[in-house]
Parts: sequence; structure tokens; C-alpha cells
Amino acid sequence: MTSYDAVVVGSGVIGLTTAWRLAGSGREVALVDAHPAAGASYAAAGMLAPVTEAAWGEEELAELNLRSVAGWPAFAHELEAASGCAVGLRNEGTLLVAADGSDRAYLEELLDYQSSLGFESSWCPAGACRELEPFLAPGVRGGIFAKGDAQVDNRRLLGSLAEAVRRSGVTLVAAAVDAFSTVAGHVAGVWASGRELEAPTVVLAAGWASSEIAGLPPGAVPPVRPVKGQILRLRGAPREPVLTRTIRALAQGSSVYLVPRGDGSVVVGATTEERGDDVSVTAGALYTLLRDAARVVPALHELELVEARAGLRPGSPDNAPLVGPASIDGLVLATGHYRNGILLAPTTAEAVLAVVDHGTLPGWAHACDPGRFAARRADEVAAARYLATTGDGS
Ligand code: GLY
Repeated sequence: MTSYDAVVVGSGVIGLTTAWRLAGSGREVALVDAHPAAGASYAAAGMLAPVTEAAWGEEELAELNLRSVAGWPAFAHELEAASGCAVGLRNEGTLLVAADGSDRAYLEELLDYQSSLGFESSWCPAGACRELEPFLAPGVRGGIFAKGDAQVDNRRLLGSLAEAVRRSGVTLVAAAVDAFSTVAGHVAGVWASGRELEAPTVVLAAGWASSEIAGLPPGAVPPVRPVKGQILRLRGAPREPVLTRTIRALAQGSSVYLVPRGDGSVVVGATTEERGDDVSVTAGALYTLLRDAARVVPALHELELVEARAGLRPGSPDNAPLVGPASIDGLVLATGHYRNGILLAPTTAEAVLAVVDHGTLPGWAHACDPGRFAARRADEVAAARYLATTGDGS
């Protein structure tokens, strides 16, 4: 048995950032993952998009996302200094364009919603869109410009975090976590490839697989599931980039995004599919993504297709993450980030550190409190009991 101050389960962007922060606070930390940095964080596009990802009914999450994007430049600066590796943060803003008249009507409504929340976004007429991005199709009907929505090169970010983690003295354990070890009803460590790693704090940051690890009582298992996203990478010429900023589009009701990298390549994503842990790449997804992307940027047809893969986002019942104390002592959750894992990594690590230091989640992180699902379960049980006693439940 080996003992640490904290064991972090999962080495994607959330686990890496959290392990780095915990080690920075002077703790002995182990980071455990059989396949480090190979999951959703690797497949991702790296958008930091609180405005263009905001959906109706997710106002609390949007507030958290805005807080996180504001902290990203300082975080990137600190990480690059600690690791010596650039992360490719870019802040040219994001343009969300409409391919036809009904897409435009939808975006106009969306802009009203964004304005009601005080977001920094504005209408960009068709001509102005093409001035910003000359390769946009002539038929594009205008769009929303979100100047604060940024992007980071997620693969460089993972490399930079891995180096910072290594330099901060974290013990890397390349093993699968089979089970939590529990003592007198609280989590006291993990079993990883037959070896026990003991710690008073275990941080669960295993993305969608956070619900798959044995050893927790049923009520303490986080309600996360895999949500498949198929995504493509196209190679372009660095000197003649087809885009200078992230383009998102509504193309005849179908959503697509195009994220340009410094080397001229473009990431095109992504499907949203409820198919369990299936990571196959399908012809239909490839066709749909390329069709929709080329509707708004026809020049994409000329680029070389270099990668097609599927990642599994960790989805939660309300699309907000679960960050904070679990319902069993000794376990802190940092999972369920769904579409915003890269964006929320620094904020999540800050919240986890606060929980480990003070035992409670800071007020600004209220939207991620895992306790909200326990309260819902209790309501459901009470409602079922009521219906059973009144006879209305038959
Ligand atoms: N945040 C982009 C996606 O989940 O596809």
C-alpha cells in the first residue's frame, strides 16, 4: 500500500489541472489513469465558448462558464511558465453564422436571449461577416459575433499540463482504477491494477467513466453517461489559412463548428449522439459534418482529411458538471463537464482545491454542487410515496 494526501482518478484535462493545483498547494498527489490524456480532452476542439455554447434554461451554467473564460488568459500564462510549453490560446472571438433565412431567424431569437442575459454578443450583417472571414460562402445570411469566445489547442494544452504535473512532483500511475477502497463507510483510496493507493481525499475526474468504477454505494455513484461526438481534422496550408477565427454555423437547422489552428488545419465538429460507449466513426457523420461545414466555407473541400474520431463527452442530467463533495466522505467529484470540459478545467481545479482546503464548495460554484441530484432523488421518492398513498400512482 502507498499513501498520498490525494489521489486523482482520471488524467484528462480536469484530472491533470486538478492534480497540478493540488500539488501546487504542497500536497503529495498520485494521478491514476491507464490511458492518460486519450479521452474526450484529446478528441475535443478546444473551444472556450460560454456565449456560443449557451442554451436556453442553462443560465447558472452560463454564469460559471463566463467566470471561467475570464480567468483563462492568466491560467494559460501561469501554465506556460510552469511547463515551458505553449497552449495556443487564441482570442479572435467566434462568429456564429446562418446559412439560410430560417437559420437567420433562429439566430436572431438566440441573440435576443443572449442580450437578456447581458452577454457580449452582437449582430453581424452578412457583408461584415465576409469582411471578417473572406472564405465564408456568399449565401451566408449574417450571424452573431461573440467577441469573448476563444479557443485553445487542446492537444498542446494536454502536453503542457502533463509537463507541469511532472515538474510539480505528482506521482503518475499508469493503471486502471478497478474500485474505490472504503473504510467504515468512507472512501479511503483506490484499487488500481491490484495495488492499493491510500489517501484521505480521492478526486474522481474520470469523465463519463466516473460512473463505472466499483465500490460506491448506489446513491453516491455520479449520474454521468457517455455522449458521443464525432469530429474531423483537416490539413490546410499555414500561410493561407481559410479561417482566422472559430466559425460556428447553423446550416439548415444543423449545427457545426470549424476551429482553425495556427498550422492552417481546421477542426470540424461535432455530432451529439446517445450511443453508450460506442466510439466508431460512421460514414453518415463524416458526410453530414463535411456537408454542413462546406455549406458555409466551401473552400474546405480543398483541404486534406487527416483524422476522423469519436470522443465521449461526460454528460450529466442537466448538462452542468458535478464538482464538490460526493455523498460519501473522502470522495470529491470533478466530472460531468459535458461540452465545457476544457473551458471549465481551471475553475474546476480551483473549486476542488477549495473543497479540499475548507470542506465546502465556494458560492460561485453552486451550479455544480453534486448535492442537487440527491435533492432531486429525494423529491422523486417523496412524490412516488405521495402517489402511492393517494392511489394516483396506479
Ligand atoms: N464543446 C464542443 C462539443 O462538445 O462538441
